Amino acid sequence: MLDQFIYKPIHPLPESGEISAKSPSNIALVKYWGKKPIQIPTNPSISFTLTNCFTKTTISFKKSKNFSFNFTLKGLEKPSFVSKIEFFLERIKEWCPYIFLYQIEIDTENTFPHSSGIASSASGFSALALALVELEQKITGMSNENKYLKASFLSRLGSGSASRSLYGPTAIWGQHKNIPSTSDQYAIAYNDLHENFKNYQDTILLIDKGTKKVSSTIGHELMHNHPFSKQRFSQANSNLESMINVLKNGDLDEFISISESEALTLHAMMMTSNPYFILMKQGTLSTIEKIWSFRGESKIPLSFTLDAGANVHLLYPLAYKQQVLDFIGSELIVFCQNQQYICDVVGTGANIISASYA
Ligand code: PMV
Repeated sequence: MLDQFIYKPIHPLPESGEISAKSPSNIALVKYWGKKPIQIPTNPSISFTLTNCFTKTTISFKKSKNFSFNFTLKGLEKPSFVSKIEFFLERIKEWCPYIFLYQIEIDTENTFPHSSGIASSASGFSALALALVELEQKITGMSNENKYLKASFLSRLGSGSASRSLYGPTAIWGQHKNIPSTSDQYAIAYNDLHENFKNYQDTILLIDKGTKKVSSTIGHELMHNHPFSKQRFSQANSNLESMINVLKNGDLDEFISISESEALTLHAMMMTSNPYFILMKQGTLSTIEKIWSFRGESKIPLSFTLDAGANVHLLYPLAYKQQVLDFIGSELIVFCQNQQYICDVVGTGANIISASYA
């Protein structure tokens, strides 16, 4: 099944070159929480791909007898990131041996504030993976379709949720017995969206920008001996099936009910693991209560979802943008650190910005 990802060179390697790729973050509607080695999800997930929160990564490479890489964030050395990249490159070595024939400079930048609580791993690993596979396409002549699949496959080996950032407006990662073409190895695009979800908005309230107390790696591990894991995995499978129908038929009430339940279940898993932990803050809960009363009074289909942190993602149709922004300004901004929030919208996934070879 993974044959399609084996490196098969047919053209000479470029002597040098530069490739820039851009990839967005994504927000899961049905959450991935729990994994097996190596980065195999214990349940399938689906996400909205974002637009404005993205990473741009440029790789500059020169053939060399000795492999080396250098990593910078907006031109500045970032020693704390080096070991993560090193680990990732080692992990993908068997699939991308050509990387090790070069000296590579990797420069990256995010449009969203670093340590804002918005995971940069999804956009970061997917942008890097796509840039590397672009070079591979030059050497192997692989199809564009396979390029995206392989980029998703490699991204997954960096960070599970990164596999979903390649595609938009939504992407499914993880095998589901009733959804054809789904795989634990990579994500696939899901495009069958009802008009109601076109340009769906995600406004991210930055409730707490502090670094996470518990890394997602540890969180995933805690699902192994979790008392509710079996029920959770089966619930995620059935929520995914329902969510796909909802995205197709445009039922906003059902969308709200599944996505909010998924967000709360993710946090409930954290609160009931051993050791237990809470990533929500008081501002998170106050925001949720305000959203529920706003929705009840205005009948505007505004809902929320959460990632593994305190920030709240407000999800709503484009048609209600002004009303929601007014509501944020009058009722929710008090819960945002430094009054910060980010307006984003469902997008189309990762792409190559430029590629040049010598
Ligand atoms: O991709 P990771 O290992 O950082 O895990 C992310 C898990 C969640 O963001 C909490 C849920 C998801 O499906 O994105």
